[in-house]
Amino acid sequence: MSKAKQNKLEDVSAAILANHVCPELAAQAMNLVMGDGNADADIVFIGEAPGKNEDEQGLPFVGASGKFLNDMLASAGLERSDVYITNIVKYRPPNNRDPSPQEKQAFWPYLAEQLEIIQPKVIVTLGRHSMEFFLPSARISEQHGQAVRVTIQHPDGKGREWLVVPLYHPAAALYNGSLRQTLIDDSMQVVSALNKY
Ligand code: URA
Repeated sequence: MSKAKQNKLEDVSAAILANHVCPELAAQAMNLVMGDGNADADIVFIGEAPGKNEDEQGLPFVGASGKFLNDMLASAGLERSDVYITNIVKYRPPNNRDPSPQEKQAFWPYLAEQLEIIQPKVIVTLGRHSMEFFLPSARISEQHGQAVRVTIQHPDGKGREWLVVPLYHPAAALYNGSLRQTLIDDSMQVVSALNKY
């Protein structure tokens, strides 16, 4: 792994702490959950916010959803160490409530910085909260598994072009078994999007 990129990602964590981002969430959380995987990855997965297990371990997607995310990766011939996994919001919201628009906005500069450092070829959004950032008018039921090239305004005011593949959240498959196969099939689309890049 590129040491330079890893060091820069560590600077982003330090900036979140130094800037006291979302102090109410921070006060109730055990850990800042920045990300896991490979800073040189071509694919970045972006979820919503850490849950209980993630908060305890300081790593994203290590609970039940994470187990299924690992299965999705395996079906696409990938391991966690091949990709980078993060969330929009980096602290666990109390009782796993949805992150608020203000919390998502507060963390956006840091997520944008993670993307600037990693420079992924493909961004995979997991669930509605993450998709809304990149494809605000898309409907997940119509767009899932399909790659779209979008220009997103970053906090410096400049547009960046990203190739985005929106997926349902892995937790959706835990509640709705019929989405399991959809998520597996869509994970393979992620690799196709990368191969066509
Ligand atoms: N759900 C998410 O969106 N992110 C995690 O890290 C865990 C569960």
